[in-house]
Amino acid sequence: MNWVVSAASASTVVCHWLVVGVWEKSALSAEASALDQAAQGAISDLHTRGDITGKLAETVEILRAPGITAERICVLGLGDPATLTRAKLDKALMTASRKLSTKASVLVAVLLPEGPRCGLATETVATSVATAFTVGCVGQGLYKAEADRHAFTGVTLLVNAGQVPESERGIAIGRILGEATNLTRELVNRHPNDIYPETFAHRMEQEAQRWGIACEVMDEPRIKSERMGSLLGVSRGSSRPPRVVLLRYEGAGAGKPWLSIVGKGVTFDSGGLSLKPSDSMKTMKCDMAGAATALGAITAIARLELKVNVLMAAGLVENMPSGSAFMLGEILTARNGMTIEIMNTDAEGRLVLADVLSYVVDQGVDRIIDLATLTGACVVALGEEVTGAFTNDQAWCDQFLAGASEVGEDAWQMPMFDSFAEQLKCDTADMKNIGTRWGGAITAAKFLEKFVSGKPWVHLDIAGPAFAESPKGHRDGGGTGAMVRTLVQVAKNFAS
Ligand code: BES
Ligand code: MN
Ligand code: ZN
Repeated sequence: MNWVVSAASASTVVCHWLVVGVWEKSALSAEASALDQAAQGAISDLHTRGDITGKLAETVEILRAPGITAERICVLGLGDPATLTRAKLDKALMTASRKLSTKASVLVAVLLPEGPRCGLATETVATSVATAFTVGCVGQGLYKAEADRHAFTGVTLLVNAGQVPESERGIAIGRILGEATNLTRELVNRHPNDIYPETFAHRMEQEAQRWGIACEVMDEPRIKSERMGSLLGVSRGSSRPPRVVLLRYEGAGAGKPWLSIVGKGVTFDSGGLSLKPSDSMKTMKCDMAGAATALGAITAIARLELKVNVLMAAGLVENMPSGSAFMLGEILTARNGMTIEIMNTDAEGRLVLADVLSYVVDQGVDRIIDLATLTGACVVALGEEVTGAFTNDQAWCDQFLAGASEVGEDAWQMPMFDSFAEQLKCDTADMKNIGTRWGGAITAAKFLEKFVSGKPWVHLDIAGPAFAESPKGHRDGGGTGAMVRTLVQVAKNFAS
């Protein structure tokens, strides 16, 4: 994809599609008006008649416009100019990008109104354009002979002459964020006989090498010598050996604080002996989304050369029932010595994360964020599009929430009352791996809390937002790459 920032006139730009942003309940912007004049009123005609409303993410296609060099116009609604946010801009641009990428070899140009943008900086707007046109043209049909989405041949962002440098900077950032999001999406979308612990670890190694990140892969003997009995318990039912992958990006230099990003990488969650019903199992290739998100984020952090030290750690296992599978009533000993009585083998994510969390704590990291498709209960609580955030350190959680809101991703903090930890009390071991039916996302977080030794930590339950059952106008079905951009923003803020 060829990216150009140009201060040329929109009426003379050569492209198949010229995307023109318009506000709702407003006159055409100066930019749109100038184009409209050249195009002999092609836009204003429809605007006056109410065929173009400017509603957020509305697209109106003008297949032939006279007087201009663009072959077609896509009029894109940006909503109310007084309430534009980055999330809304992303949504509109993603909708256009998805629509226009159904054919191959498309050249697009984008013309957005200057005017008030509710404080969105020129660089931010360009970042949004680049992310949307990088992500929206990639679909989930990885294994289809004929793709239903195609990368654009080129994207030209039209801006005023004075804004070229800022816009170019924004485009460079947005492309990296988009590609990182697509990496996460691709891995989540790969089927579970394609991505399993060994192949996932191998892919992580390749990405690390490509972007100059140090990588260490622990194989099963090494994991055993680390005494990760909790993670190994989950893995035991599978014929495929587990992996723990560590990526170290030292952008701030020695002696500076380390941020750790930990991901749940259950490459397929059958539930184990507490077998899931088919309907719940169908999408469980997505249960490694936490690890895929952590990987996507650290590649972007490294490519942006952020001045921050990041240790990414992923626990990769398959949760299967078999003659060697871990059993109900069995007691596992975690890496930190704690014993866990298994009351449900489908509550496996916390068992995997427990050992990886205690490992990064012992590596001396200063701040931790973990990501996991951990509980259906979190989806019940917050729906399919909101990430649940849990913490033992309010200041650190506030930093996380600030990063999420800066990039416009939805996250909501959940409580961490001690009464939920009481549910984990056990007569035979230090704890059980499940509590009661109610508040299951919180019980799971209280379980994880026991493995972070009081280090500032935020747990993100992405069981809802990581994977979409069906497509919407502004995003594809399948892996979404949710939280990749937030993690990069949090790392950026951590650096300064
Ligand atoms: N991977 C699932 C959680 C999940 C559910 C992810 C829906 C994505 C969509 C997790 O391992 C799981 O099975 N959790 C159980 C926990 C229960 C047994 C305490 C659940 O949520 O039912
Ligand atoms: Mn499970
Ligand atoms: Zn799971």
